Amino acid sequence: MKDFDFWAPTYFAFGRGKEARAGELVRQFGGRKALIHYGGGSAIRSGLIDRVKVSLTQAGVAFEELGGVMPNPRSGLVEEGVRLALDRKIDFILAVGGGSVIDSSKAIAIGAANGGAWRHFYVGREVKVRPAIPAALPVGVVLTIAAAGSEGSPNSIITLEPENLKRGAGSNILRPKFAVMNPELTMTLPPFQTACGLADMFAHLCERYFSPTTDVALTDSLCEAVMRTIVGESVKVMANPADYQARANIMWAGTLAHNDICGVGREQDWASHGIEHELSALYDCAHGAGLAVVMPAWMTYVHKVDTARFARFARAVFGVGIGEPDGQAALDGIAAFRGWLKSLGLPLTFAELGAREEDIPLLVWTLNLNGNTLGGFKPLNDADITAIYRLCL
Ligand code: NZQ
Ligand code: ZN
Repeated sequence: MKDFDFWAPTYFAFGRGKEARAGELVRQFGGRKALIHYGGGSAIRSGLIDRVKVSLTQAGVAFEELGGVMPNPRSGLVEEGVRLALDRKIDFILAVGGGSVIDSSKAIAIGAANGGAWRHFYVGREVKVRPAIPAALPVGVVLTIAAAGSEGSPNSIITLEPENLKRGAGSNILRPKFAVMNPELTMTLPPFQTACGLADMFAHLCERYFSPTTDVALTDSLCEAVMRTIVGESVKVMANPADYQARANIMWAGTLAHNDICGVGREQDWASHGIEHELSALYDCAHGAGLAVVMPAWMTYVHKVDTARFARFARAVFGVGIGEPDGQAALDGIAAFRGWLKSLGLPLTFAELGAREEDIPLLVWTLNLNGNTLGGFKPLNDADITAIYRLCL
């Protein structure tokens, strides 16, 4: 196991009706004037935004609001939010939504605390070291979709306009102060969005599990347990979207998959995410759908680097390949993973995603490795990434 520092101070309020505590929690973490930030309308239609406003008013917290965050959130709305936050002297950002809303909130939080500057903190694989973020307003979350894990993560991913580059910022100061997680709020998700969330959280575990670091028995087992849970509960939630217990297990799995409890002490990979972000930037597809196409292709390309690990994944997560030689078990595991994604109704190929073979050189170019490599399990160069995109065909 490698040495690590781990600081994950988010307060979680989990369960039915917990959104009623949003105002009290904003106040507890120092907010007096909040910006409520939300998406394209689902939180308004469900009545959640009204309930959050009541909660803020009861706690004596003043508020402004800014809706309209799109999936794969854009820099234009972040700029608007930063101006609003500075003009109205906002001291707290309350994200009501999913990963896109939370990430947009984190970007506004950076800009509002740094005199309007936030964009240069968002970088890609072209740099080896991310610029340090000196300050950010506190962010709180009322989560409405189990997926990206941004409610507990130190990251924010924004599509920078007009170049259309999907880039990330990261710092522990971006971890939300609190996350309200009511599994009932996720019951209105369309099945496709539920499935995208399942694929994303599973991928977050894979990016950590497929590691060259040895002697990580505890985090290996944690990753496997969370992956098994996601697969098991997925069957229940797809059959019955109103299954509270399945929604609850999935929601907490999404947080554990990405707040790094399962990843500390290990070199992590993140190649599939880098490769996917170019797809969701160019085609505006759902991040989880892009991962459903990329992850199995990445696995197919790299599995021989550590066949035994892939065989263990097959046996421990999907219960296949038992009694088989490792080489066969590894292939069985990748096939089982593909089968699971397909059972969720997710795309598995470029064509199903709406991506085009002729765009592959552009995708590799915008990923812009700048002479660096991508990934920790098998460091990938441009030729490797081209080959992985071709496996997605
Ligand atoms: O905009 P509204 O109308 O709210 O609709 C949203 C959106 O269309 C809808 N939705 C959310 N909750 C709902 C609901 N519809 C009905 N009922 C509800 N309860 O779902 C759609 C997707 O929302 P989005 O926030 O985009 O989903 P997700 O949580 O998957 O976030 C994806 C974004 O997170 C980034 C991705 O790249 C992508 O941009 N990621 C962020 C990470 C992080 N900050 O740590 C890590 C991830 O790897 C990921 O890259
Ligand atoms: Zn992800």
